[in-house]
Amino acid sequence: MKRDRQIPSCPLILFAVVVCSGEVASADAYKEGVLPYVRKYCVECHTGKEAKGELDLTRYANASDVAASSRRWNSIAEFIRNGEMPPEDAKQPTIDERNSVVATVEAILLAEAQKHAGDPGVVLPRRLSNTEYDLSIRELTGVDIRPTKDFPADRLEVKALTIQAKRSGCHQIF
Ligand code: HEC
Repeated sequence: MKRDRQIPSCPLILFAVVVCSGEVASADAYKEGVLPYVRKYCVECHTGKEAKGELDLTRYANASDVAASSRRWNSIAEFIRNGEMPPEDAKQPTIDERNSVVATVEAILLAEAQKHAGDPGVVLPRRLSNTEYDLSIRELTGVDIRPTKDFPADRLEVKALTIQAKRSGCHQIF
């Protein structure tokens, strides 16, 4: 009996989507990839003068607003990534929504940082560690394929390159 071979194409496609989501098209990355999330999960507490933590998220309308406040947004991305915001008792995003919004914010900040390469005032977004990456992929695809097993050992190499780059006065991002 002839049986169709099952091709596990789905995880591969999702994998590609995850990888590509870091490269956001120039349409407006914020309006498309972040604003809907902010509206859904954040503005309820972060609007206007009464905004919690004195953070009025309605002030940011597009990617250039975010780029102009890169320090602030680096910290906002950190809060989202760590699951500190929205607070536990508020409506929670899925891990997929969260990862995608963090990736978009990081892509915006990275593009901005690259424009100002050499400017020491820029805060660079952090990369996902290999473990975080594997967990995200597993969460998204339901398959524990651990794509990072083929990646270089976590961070050490990145650190070495960064130090090397700093020494040579270069602020390229790794
Ligand atoms: C249910 C209300 C609520 C929601 C929803 C909420 N926050 Fe907050 N947020 C707070 C409160 C309260 C604080 C202040 C905490 C403090 O000062 O200790 C805060 C503080 C923060 C801070 C720190 C501000 C600073 O610099 O001190 C950030 C960043 C932040 N929120 C981002 C977000 C983001 C992004 C979202 C949406 C994903 C979000 N928050 C959703 C209530 C909320």
